[in-house]
Amino acid sequence: METFQFNNDGFSFKQLKFIQEYGSNIATATAAYPEFILMKSKPMLSAYSDRLQDRTVTNLLELGIMKGGSTALFNAMATPQNHMAVDVYKHESGLDVLAEIVANEGRKLLARYDISQSDTKLIVKTFEEHFGVAAEFDVIIDDASHNYDLSLASFNGLFGRVKPGGFYAIEDWGWAHWGGAFQQSDHPEFGNTSLSTLILQCVMACTAGMAGISRVDVTPDTVFIHRNQSVLPDDFALERSFPTRGRVFTGA
Ligand SMILES: C[S@@+](CC[C@H](N)C(=O)[O-])C[C@H]1O[C@@H](n2cnc3c(N)ncnc32)[C@H](O)[C@@H]1O
Repeated sequence: METFQFNNDGFSFKQLKFIQEYGSNIATATAAYPEFILMKSKPMLSAYSDRLQDRTVTNLLELGIMKGGSTALFNAMATPQNHMAVDVYKHESGLDVLAEIVANEGRKLLARYDISQSDTKLIVKTFEEHFGVAAEFDVIIDDASHNYDLSLASFNGLFGRVKPGGFYAIEDWGWAHWGGAFQQSDHPEFGNTSLSTLILQCVMACTAGMAGISRVDVTPDTVFIHRNQSVLPDDFALERSFPTRGRVFTGA
C-alpha cells in the first residue's frame, strides 16, 4: 500500500491532502478538494493501514462523515467498489468532487447527510437501492455519535451484515475513561451508559459464541470486531448474546 507522506499539519496520500484536526479548531476548519479535514491521529492511521492493506474491500459502510476526511481517506486506502457514508449534518467538503472522480474510475461513492446511524433499516434500503447489490459489507466503520444507545442500535442492525472474515470498527470507544471534560458532569454524555460497555458486551458475546464474533481486537482508540461464519437472526441483540448466571450486567 502507498505510504502516507507527512508534513506539518497532516499528510498526503495518493492525490489527496489531509489536514489532521481533532481539537477545538475542528468547528471552524475548512478545506476544498483535494484537501480534506480528517479527525484521525497518526496511531489510528497505522491501525487502519495494518488492517486494510491486504484486504479486498468491495462494500464499505461508514457512519459519521463530519468534514469528509475519513470518507476520502478510506476510499483512497481501500478503493471499494461501493462506498456509502452517512451523517445527520452536512459540512462543506470536497466529497462531491471526489464522488465524480470515483465514478470515472467505475466505482461508486454515496455520502448521505440525512440518515442517522441508528436507522439501520434505512441504511440497508438506501445502500441496496443505490448500489444495486445486497447490503453485505467487508468493512463497517462507526465514527458517528459515540453514544451507547445509538451505537448499539447500529451494531445490532448491521453486524450481521458484515461478511465472514470482515470487521466492524468502533472508534473512540473509551471516552468514559478519558480525563478532562469527559469526567465532568456537564459533558453531554456524562449521564449515559459508556460506549466501552458495548465493547465489554462484544467480549462476553465472543466467548459465548452467540454473536458471530471471532475476535475483538482492541487499540486505545478503535476496536475492530471481527465477524465469523455464523448467521445472525433478524432480531439479533448483542446485549442478549451472553449468559450471565442471572447477574445483571449494567456496564460502566
Ligand atoms: C467524529 S465525527 C466524524 C469524523 C470523521 N469520521 C473523520 O474521521 O474525519 C462524528 C460525526 O458523526 C455525526 N453524527 C452524530 N450523531 C450521528 C448519528 N446519530 N448518525 C450519524 N452521524 C452522526 C456528527 O454529525 C459528526 O459529523
